Amino acid sequence: MIQIAIDGPSGAGKSTMAKRLAKELGFLYVDTGALYRAIGLYMLRAGVATKDPAQVLPRLAEIKLELRHIDGAQHVFLNGEDVSSEIRREAVSMAASDVSAHQGVRDFLTETQRSIAQKNNVLMDGRDIGTVILPNAQIKIFLTASAEERARRRTLELEQRGQKVSYDEVLADIRQRDYNDSHRAAAPLRQAEDAVLVDTTQDDFETAFQKLCDLIRGRID
Ligand code: DC
Repeated sequence: MIQIAIDGPSGAGKSTMAKRLAKELGFLYVDTGALYRAIGLYMLRAGVATKDPAQVLPRLAEIKLELRHIDGAQHVFLNGEDVSSEIRREAVSMAASDVSAHQGVRDFLTETQRSIAQKNNVLMDGRDIGTVILPNAQIKIFLTASAEERARRRTLELEQRGQKVSYDEVLADIRQRDYNDSHRAAAPLRQAEDAVLVDTTQDDFETAFQKLCDLIRGRID
């Protein structure tokens, strides 16, 4: 099986890019952030303090998560309920960032992620795919862009979905999540030594997409 890992900070365009690349290559796209988001959502609904591992970890036993691909799109099921839309709320983003800092949560999700990659050619996007989950992935990409550019893109995206947000709030939120994701003790966000760095601050989507297609084809053909 061929494994392609795409890691990078929030809002760098990983999911849009990974989805397009997976379609182009005929690979299964796996959005691992959705798993952390589903756990964040469960804890929010349960009124659990998401930053506190002593409250979060015992509740994991109540959760059954499943990723299903329906017509090419990934859906995440939390105890049988399709929560794919609800996990995109901003409140859930922060809860996901909180719970993802707990080692027990990461351990809980490791097997789910690895078993998908054993059965399929995957293009998996996350924070620690190239460093922890799939350290032997044939291709590793670290996709990033400046915090300001990521906030600009995210504000546009949320507005297009009809959500009212301010750029300043989105930027503050991105900075906070960057800090959380890269300073936590458990599997912090960092570029794997053998990953290719792709910074899209200056590139439009098509340019970056072509660069990555060429890079991947050059490695797997
Ligand atoms: O990619 P995303 O924004 O949907 O991820 C939600 C949160 O989950 C984010 O704050 C970081 C965390 N995450 C992680 O720690 N490891 C992953 N492989 C994917 C996401």
